[in-house]
Amino acid sequence: VAANWKMNLLRAEASAWCRAVRRELEAVPARSTVLVFPSFPMIPDVAGELRGSVLEVGGQDLHPEDKGAFTGDVSGAQLADAGCAWALCGHSERRHGHGEGDELVGRKIAAAARHGLAPMICIGETRAERHEGATFSVLERQVRSAVSSLGDPEGRRFAFAYEPVWAIGTGETAAPETAQETHGFLRELLGELLGAERAAVLPILYGGSATAENCPSLIAGPDIDGFLVGGASLDPGKFLGIIRGSD
Ligand code: 13P
Repeated sequence: VAANWKMNLLRAEASAWCRAVRRELEAVPARSTVLVFPSFPMIPDVAGELRGSVLEVGGQDLHPEDKGAFTGDVSGAQLADAGCAWALCGHSERRHGHGEGDELVGRKIAAAARHGLAPMICIGETRAERHEGATFSVLERQVRSAVSSLGDPEGRRFAFAYEPVWAIGTGETAAPETAQETHGFLRELLGELLGAERAAVLPILYGGSATAENCPSLIAGPDIDGFLVGGASLDPGKFLGIIRGSD
């Protein structure tokens, strides 16, 4: 279960969040792996607050190059140095808000790998693509490109997050049957690309208006392994509700 704070929270709020979530998970451990993706300026503080806890920290994006004249960007080396274990690659707000295509997302996945960061690879179709019946072809293109960028996936830690663009921040969560159908398709495709054994244990998270209320019916889908949470992750109580609802 992963919290993507996007461009939200200030340092004091982030620190209060970390203390609350850490305290609660130390009192009552969760079965889920729990990750948090803060905005860049908060990463060192958050990593410090969470050191020695079960929570892991990741960057929301990274530049495909390792260093250089790239004003405003952050490298995989900098994320790792700041305490990250993960990096989001290909979030829809990067693909659609910043025009990032599969080729660039692939180079980011490769950059994450070079720096020992586990990529959380985000994929998803737009509303128009779903209406055109193009959902599976769009996802297949995104997945094939991402997997080819991973290099040798043997022994590598990574995960996929299926986030239908029309469900992100809209309150319009995918129906459990729709989400499961799509995750089932993804598991089968990943089985073809990575081998059935690896695909069976590869985490495929759902993202898009996930809440403590709707996550139990979504997690009941056999191919839905967890959640990448935006809005509802900002409140520690709501986020903990999703962790508990996923266990
Ligand atoms: P919301 O949970 O706010 O819909 O955001 C989902 C998301 O984009 C997580 O990465």
